[in-house]
Amino acid sequence: MTTTLNVSLGARSYPIFIGTGLLADPACYRPYVAGRQVMIVTNETVAPLYLGAVAGALDGLRVETLVLPDGEVYKTQAVLERIYEALLGARFSRDCTLVALGGGVIGDMAGFAAACYQRGVAFIQVPTTLLAQVDSSVGGKTGINHPLGKNMIGAFHQPRAVIADTATLNTLPDRELCAGLAEVIKYGLIRDPAFFDWLDTHLDALRARDPAALAEAIRRSCENKSEVVAADELESGERALLNLGHTFGHAIETGAGYGNWLHGEAVGVGMCMAADLSARLGWLDPADLRRTRDLIARAGLPTAPPPELSAERLLDLMAVDKKVLEGRLRLVLLRGIGAAVVTDQFDPAHLRATLGG
Ligand code: NAD
Ligand code: GLY
Repeated sequence: MTTTLNVSLGARSYPIFIGTGLLADPACYRPYVAGRQVMIVTNETVAPLYLGAVAGALDGLRVETLVLPDGEVYKTQAVLERIYEALLGARFSRDCTLVALGGGVIGDMAGFAAACYQRGVAFIQVPTTLLAQVDSSVGGKTGINHPLGKNMIGAFHQPRAVIADTATLNTLPDRELCAGLAEVIKYGLIRDPAFFDWLDTHLDALRARDPAALAEAIRRSCENKSEVVAADELESGERALLNLGHTFGHAIETGAGYGNWLHGEAVGVGMCMAADLSARLGWLDPADLRRTRDLIARAGLPTAPPPELSAERLLDLMAVDKKVLEGRLRLVLLRGIGAAVVTDQFDPAHLRATLGG
């Protein structure tokens, strides 16, 4: 069964298809391909698994493929250049379509290339990791890393469609599945307490890759994300809540060296830190802090940062966050499970204590 959700953005609205066997289904792609030129951008891990099925679904169009190296460490300006080179080398025009086939790294990079190539061309997200299916493929945030900061160079550019084939998760390594669960738990924590309760009950089924549980988790995550994006596409308010744990997490990812900690792992620790600080401020009940930490640990995620990252170093890295305004660090914190807020109203001493300093 295919579930179809809609990201409601006026003329730029688009569907999210969730189901099995969608990768090879031409009907999922054809209405969203702009012209006749299609560039599938993927990586060397995903290509042998799924490139054939996607290319088959696009049969009859002029399909070029670009297979990039795999890893967060390649989410760079230099690798982005390779996408432009491939597009220009193939003489692709403004009515071409990019298809991003892979996890969040490929989606963010191919999406950014689509945002910039000839000032913006069409693109379709075909996410193949849990993290990408529940978060990064939806909402139009695209970009690359800079050596000084994670995701610091980018653009908002919405896809024409998101095709989430849940069967692709069968080949995903366990560690990557767990990383995706961090972003799933995030929706429960920020705005959907009933979903948090559901996750508490179904976490073992999710870890065991129960298809029905996974499909439900993806559906509810995408529903939450679409609602937030529809209300605040460019992050002037509510969308910042989706960054729960990310200010801490990005500091860990950058500090540990891109690729050493998975994004979802760093976000898992970041959510524990946000919950810890919220409890220190008296905003989050100690029992809810415990519940939060327990669920994140049960998801197979770390709950503390690497010991070599001092409070001082983390604070330094956090100062580069996109939520910093006029030099003031703003954080997403919890007033309860399902009730996140963005605030700069916290005692720096409490923050330092949370960071272990
Ligand atoms: P990833 O793209 O690196 O994929 C994880 C690993 O799984 C890679 O080695 C990949 O090749 C492999 N893989 C992908 N699909 C597979 C499959 N079906 N079977 C086997 N292996 C597979 O990592 P990710 O966790 O998907 O994404 C993380 C990235 O997403 C980060 O760069 C993060 O900043 C970004 N992100 C963006 C947003 C957004 O809104 N744009 C949101 C969250 C995260
Ligand atoms: N992943 C955060 C956002 O899309 O806004």
